[in-house]
Amino acid sequence: MSKLPNTILVIMGITGDLVGKKVAPALFDLYQKGELPEKFRLIGFGRKQFDAAGIRRFVTDLVLAKFPDADAGQLQAFTEMLDYQQGLFEEAASYERLKARLAQIQQPWGEANKLFYLAVPPEIYGGIFQHFQAVNLIDEHSRILVEKPFGSNAKSAQELDLLLGTLFAEERIYRIDHYLAKEMLQNILAFRFNNDLFEKSWDNQLIELIQIRLWEKIGVEHRGKFYDGVGALRDVGQNHLLQMLALVTMDYPVDFLPSALQARRTEILNQLKPLTPEQIRAQTYRAQYDGYQQIAGVAPDSQTETYFRFTTQLDSPKWAGVPVIFDGGKRLGEARKEIIITLRHPEDCNCPPGRHYRNRIIFALEPKEGIEIELWAKKPGLGNEVELRRLEFMLRQTAGRLQYIEEYQKLFIDAIRGDQTLFVSTSEVQAMWNFIDPIAAAWAQNIVPLKTYQPDTDQAPADSANII
Ligand code: BG6
Repeated sequence: MSKLPNTILVIMGITGDLVGKKVAPALFDLYQKGELPEKFRLIGFGRKQFDAAGIRRFVTDLVLAKFPDADAGQLQAFTEMLDYQQGLFEEAASYERLKARLAQIQQPWGEANKLFYLAVPPEIYGGIFQHFQAVNLIDEHSRILVEKPFGSNAKSAQELDLLLGTLFAEERIYRIDHYLAKEMLQNILAFRFNNDLFEKSWDNQLIELIQIRLWEKIGVEHRGKFYDGVGALRDVGQNHLLQMLALVTMDYPVDFLPSALQARRTEILNQLKPLTPEQIRAQTYRAQYDGYQQIAGVAPDSQTETYFRFTTQLDSPKWAGVPVIFDGGKRLGEARKEIIITLRHPEDCNCPPGRHYRNRIIFALEPKEGIEIELWAKKPGLGNEVELRRLEFMLRQTAGRLQYIEEYQKLFIDAIRGDQTLFVSTSEVQAMWNFIDPIAAAWAQNIVPLKTYQPDTDQAPADSANII
């Protein structure tokens, strides 16, 4: 077991989707690797009736769904750390019982970190916090973990922050964007700040274009109702894609402490100037795949985009003149998640007429996970022909990588240690919404007509390719 502080993790809404998909398997895997604190306890809070054996069975099944070959002994030992507190989110007495249970667990340990993970829709945060406050549940060892969406625009995000701020100081609020915990994205900073190959001129002198993509093959799955109220731009554009931009363009931090990294990310996100209506017309694109409206939970006349593209620039002398093209969406022909950096090459090259070669650096998350540098080299032989060569290293084979588990493990461990590097600060959230809000508002007024695309094809990226 690792030397981490004593921790009680309280999951508000343990029977929710997120727990099965991410939390339970991530924690189990940490447990079997001996990475959880020596003194660790998990309390599930929920309205369903479970006895001790029932909740253990429930969590065991969630883990087995991801790790069918999990060792029975390990699983049993893991679920022995689990407690269940039946209760209603709106009932004061339930919180009194939760408080008593927390005190009982903590008593023999002396001190303990208390992490509250909200696996419930944001609409009920307010009620939960009122009860937390009424029974005086939160102390200086308490932290809160919240999932995106952080509001649906700048205003509602601010309201949510005010609410979180009633009980928790900013350094105790852990906002999750699991992209920050992706190995490849962490590697962008490692690549940039530990190698002098490019970083000395990582700006508009060297770089002429940045493309950031998040193409998914999967559709909205069983999340029709949620997704229809959000759309692709807010589901992945406002957060994951903008964070990818932040990592690839931010300045060298003063140090590598969480506050310095968050400050650098914020700084660059604030350089995204909101697009004007004319720019929105010319530089954004939205489309929905054919058949989307038939999904359960989706409005039959839904105007929600399942694919988007927009082009912008960072407003700073360092990045002026470098277009940044973002696009992302569901049910596309291929899963492709990557950042492509194209370098300038103003001079003529010794290449066939009509060709002009440029170097590209690709930070790829899917289908491969690694960094590629495209170079041009002379083709062996009598001629002078030039051919493409790739310097690449793969982080590892993605096949078999369990979605979300790796990211959530890092997020939980960092929240236990009190490290906010991989979490999103309130100023980042605001900066991201300030940029996205005008686009989302213009789309809601149909200023940019919604197009249609054939699912499982590359039609949407192809159709939108000509926007500037
Ligand atoms: C989530 C979105 O935040 O990110 C999903 O809500 C999307 O719609 C997912 O599928 C993509 O994450 P990943 O890790 O699969 O690239």
